[in-house]
Amino acid sequence: MKNGQFWYDTDGNIIHAHGGWILKVDDYYYWYGEDRTDLNFVSCYRTKDFKTFEFRNHVLTANSPVKASYLRSVNLSLKTEEPEGTPNNQLRRKDENGLVLANIERPKVLYCKATGKYVMWMHFENGLNYSSACCAVASCDTPDGDFVYHGSFNPFGNDSRDCTVYEADGEAYFVSSSRGNKDLYVYRLTEDYRSVEDTVKIMFQNQLREAPAFFQKDEQHYVLTSGCTGWNPNQGGAAVSREGRVDGKWSLISNFGDETTFYSQPSFVLRVEENGKTEYYYFGDRWGGRGELYFNSTYVVLKIKFDENNMPYIEYTEDAQLPFGK
Ligand code: GAL
Repeated sequence: MKNGQFWYDTDGNIIHAHGGWILKVDDYYYWYGEDRTDLNFVSCYRTKDFKTFEFRNHVLTANSPVKASYLRSVNLSLKTEEPEGTPNNQLRRKDENGLVLANIERPKVLYCKATGKYVMWMHFENGLNYSSACCAVASCDTPDGDFVYHGSFNPFGNDSRDCTVYEADGEAYFVSSSRGNKDLYVYRLTEDYRSVEDTVKIMFQNQLREAPAFFQKDEQHYVLTSGCTGWNPNQGGAAVSREGRVDGKWSLISNFGDETTFYSQPSFVLRVEENGKTEYYYFGDRWGGRGELYFNSTYVVLKIKFDENNMPYIEYTEDAQLPFGK
């Protein structure tokens, strides 16, 4: 499989798992991501070997079941009426009644042991403009079933855009760009993973970081991020925790990848046990652009290496450097 080219599932269809995430369940790696075809929001594929990818389900769509949770003032709608004459410079999708579909971005799924549910966190926009800046939550009993949508909201009133989740230190975190993308907020999740319980850290003040992707190696946490230039790629950055704690001190950001991060933006980092060793893979999106160009989006996957200071780096090859490869 080549970086920056379309990848296909075992049915011969283009894999739509942009801004995605991989969760390992038993022997399978479940790959979730944005799918803007038809009425779809999030699709799920699975693989054991990273050579073939089986399409499993459109796990979140405009017709997904909706169920309120104990959270109040939550927007349960995935569709909005289109005000007349509104400028449209995004990709505006509509259902059969002309209602505009939401934009669901960067979906991430964790398994919550306390409830036995798979819980999805994502970035919600109303599909008209980029002013909602909400996070949204859905859950399911199985990794690839029909997720039930629980609505979108501003965590503790904060705007919330590019996001990720991270399980570490016995905690689960939701992380998102806030204050107009200026800072990165780290929230601890509630024990059912359905809400945020606390703000444990605000990182990278006024550094305009997007596309966060966390991982742990040895005693330290790492985060990869991009700069903030919309669909256009920019210089990636990496930072490392200094005290082995997410909520402790962090290093400054140093460069990760080249000035365009090899024409990609981080979506997540996958940790894989391979031949008795822990390996790390950078999964990035090579975005096609706004509007219909979005459908040209592809993936860049590169194995992460570590330099003498234990900082991560990647080297570009045309072949994707997928797990269990050569
Ligand atoms: C990027 C972001 C994407 C998407 C895009 C829209 O910066 O990482 O997830 O939101 O902007 O312009």
